[in-house]
Amino acid sequence: MKIPADRGRFVTFEGPDGSGKTTQLRLLYPWLVEQGYPVIVTREPGGTVIGEQIRALLHDCARTEMSAQAEILLYSASRAQLVAEFILPALDAGKWVLCDRYYDSTFAYQGYGRGLSLDDLRAITRFATQLLKPDLTLYLDVSPEIGLQRRAQSGEALNRLDRETLAFHRRVREGYLALAAAEPERWITVDASLPVSEVQAVLRQILQTWGEKLQ
Ligand code: TYD
Repeated sequence: MKIPADRGRFVTFEGPDGSGKTTQLRLLYPWLVEQGYPVIVTREPGGTVIGEQIRALLHDCARTEMSAQAEILLYSASRAQLVAEFILPALDAGKWVLCDRYYDSTFAYQGYGRGLSLDDLRAITRFATQLLKPDLTLYLDVSPEIGLQRRAQSGEALNRLDRETLAFHRRVREGYLALAAAEPERWITVDASLPVSEVQAVLRQILQTWGEKLQ
């Protein structure tokens, strides 16, 4: 979907587990508000009452029987609800929507990670998102070795996907790099192995430059 100039902007944050997206977004949000950007933040899976319930199911480590097909449809259902209930109305109201993960996570994790058909994922995604595409995708790149180590040290409970093998996480990262290379006009890659404050400075610079170009 092409967003007209008077509409808001849709910026997504992507990265392997432990890339620090969530920390970076937490620091970025108040700064963007201070700069006067009409921002709001949301996340996937989740972001709506329905989506958060789906998230709990998706992250439940006891649900080892979940099929790969069911997993995709659950992520997509959460996304469909978020787009319809939250993102599209916010864009209509002129907001900048910052989203912690979006459909590129499905291509990276379920497509490249699990080896499912990218064509099938594209069809499901078109339906779920009403063709809403991000204006900008900030990709926080980190090796799975560093990412998983950070995740383990963070003390956060591990979700179903964190428990996947190193080989799975390597495929996810390769997937992200392929996705970024295929659409260079939408993606900006940031080295997320740097300290938090340095990554934050890079992100602020990127968004400021991008925001100025839009005016
Ligand atoms: P979350 O706890 O939000 O992790 P992170 O802070 O790394 O985003 O968990 C989201 C998990 O769900 C993460 O392991 C990636 C996975 N995921 C998919 O596999 N497919 C998807 O479409 C999405 C949105 C997430």
